[in-house]
This record gives sequence, structure tokens and C-alpha cells, in this order.
Amino acid sequence: MKFNQSNIKKAKNYLDEGHCIGVPTETVYGLAANAYSNFAVKKIFKLKKRPKNNPLIVHYWDINSLKEDCLMNNDFIKLYKKFSPGPITYILKLRKNSKISKFVTNKEKNLAVRFPKHRIFKRLLKELDYPLAAPSANISSKLSSVQASDVSEEFGSKIKYILDGGKCSIGLESTIISLVNKPTILRLGGLDVAKIQKILNKKINSNINPKKKIAPGQSFLHYSPGIPLKTNVKKPKKNEAFLLIKKRKISLNNYYYLSKKNDLNEAAKNLYSFLRKIKNKGYKSIAIEKIPNSGIGKVINDRLNRASKY
Ligand code: TXA
Ligand code: MG
Repeated sequence: MKFNQSNIKKAKNYLDEGHCIGVPTETVYGLAANAYSNFAVKKIFKLKKRPKNNPLIVHYWDINSLKEDCLMNNDFIKLYKKFSPGPITYILKLRKNSKISKFVTNKEKNLAVRFPKHRIFKRLLKELDYPLAAPSANISSKLSSVQASDVSEEFGSKIKYILDGGKCSIGLESTIISLVNKPTILRLGGLDVAKIQKILNKKINSNINPKKKIAPGQSFLHYSPGIPLKTNVKKPKKNEAFLLIKKRKISLNNYYYLSKKNDLNEAAKNLYSFLRKIKNKGYKSIAIEKIPNSGIGKVINDRLNRASKY
């Protein structure tokens, strides 16, 4: 995607005026607004129909811009040096005098913080005097957006502008780790937990069970295409869409290949747009072949399991 200075300027103007806009990141598109403004942050919740107690991730340009808002500890510094900018979100303690709108965290004392890698989004963040609160750009509990057209499908004319950054290179949300007490994974995502483990070199707890709420809102994760979805299917029913990863000898009209080369990263990148496409074609249900449960395959399975609870 070409870099375009006038688009960055447009995006900045809308944000400076307190509007919400769509922004590209390497994981999924975000619905962004000034994280220091109560007015702007409240709009995000309204547009997404998001419960007020489900806190937002705040996106920063770099560690210096974070200093005034959060307390940093050694675990954070280690991980930041290795993995940021990139698909990892840290939960840190808010400073008492931080300027973050109380609506971002629903008055809680911890903040989710991310440093995105997408070139165009980074460029925008660099131009701003404030960080951006940005949840995924979708109506609450629905499919995340991985290209600009998905964002306009979700919000239409209700948002002023979408900064087009092409298709997201990862296609699944960031990994979330709480560093407030003992390191605890809250959501599987674009960065492999094994890599985090290697850098921290100590036990990492995990709380990714959607039934066990660690944070308000954690149980609202659904990633639902809005039609029933079944996993580990060997043979689909006649009228349902079939998502596959391994090439078959016979391919029917209702077969959709997440990857042509049996590549899990490519499958991850295509997952949400295929689910969206299948739904828009009018299928009433989706069947999915067993996806290997390793590397990013674990994250694909996590999202599919949540989506299948719809
Ligand atoms: O890749 C991503 O992380 C994308 C892009 C746009 O950055 N963002 C994203 O945001 O996925 P969202 O709002 O769809 O998911 C954020 C998750 C929510 O489940 C929320 O409950 C959790 O992060 N969260 C946010 N703040 C938190 C906090 N202070 N403590 C615990 N969990 C938090
Ligand atoms: Mg989301």
C-alpha cells in the first residue's frame, strides 16, 4: 500500500476534531479516537455497541510517549525491546496523573497498551499529540475487519473516514499479556506465546478461558460471522460452505481454501475475510476442516471455537 501524506493529514484532522476513524494495523483494522478525550472515547463505545465495562487498547508511537501514562516494569521493558512494534498488547498499571480518559478503562487502574507496526498507522501516530484508543473495527462480538471495505461494511456512513492501509498482514488480533502482577496471557494472538516465554524466561500464567473472566469484557469475545459455524468437519453438508486448508482432489463450488499451500500464516490472514465473504454470499452455515493446533493454528482454533458458540 502506497504511503500518502494527504491521507495522513485528513485522518489527523478528523481525530483532532474528536471523531472516530478506521485505521489499519498489522493485526486487524481499528476504530480509533483520541484516548485523552472523554468525548471521543465515548463515541467508540456507541459506534461499536460495546458494553461500557469492556476496556479499550491504547496505541502509542513509542515507549517515550507512554511514560506519562503508565508505570513500566522489567518484564515490560524486555518484551518491548524484543517485540514492539508488533502484535503484542501489554496490560500495565496506569499512573495516577495519566491523561487517559476514564472511559477507556471504565475507571479501572490498568491500561492495555500496544505499539503497532503498520507503516501508515505508525506515521499517523507520530503526527499526533495524543495516543489512540482503538478496539477492533467491528460491531461488538462480530467479525473483525481486515481491510478498509470491511470497516465500511460495519459502520457505513457512521464514521467520517477510513485510513486505507491495504489488507492486514497478520489478520488476527494481538496477543494480550498482563504484566501487572505475574505475567499472564489474556488472549492468544499474532505473537506466539512460546517466543514471549523465551524472552521472559519464567513461568507465564494463562487465562484464556472465555468463561473465566479476568477482565471485564473478556467474555464478550465472539468473533462471530453471524451464522452457525462447526469445527473439525470431515465432510460438509450439501448446502454449507466448507473452509479448508489442505488441497483436495475434488473441489466443489462451496469449498473455500484458506491457504493454497497448506500454510497456517496465510490461513490466518484469510480467515476473517473468508468468513465475511461466505456470510455475504448467503450461506446459512459454515463447516471447517480440522486446523493443526500449532503456532498460529492455535490462534485460528481459539477464534473459531469462540465463533462457534454463537
Ligand atoms: O490487534 C489488536 O489488538 C486490535 C488492533 C486494532 O490493535 N485491537 C483489538 O481490540 O483487538 P479489541 O478491543 O477488539 O480487543 C481488546 C481486548 C478486549 O477483549 C478487552 O477486554 C481487552 O483487550 N482489554 C482491554 N483493556 C484491558 C485491560 N485494561 N485489562 C484487561 N483486558 C483488557
Ligand atoms: Mg475485538
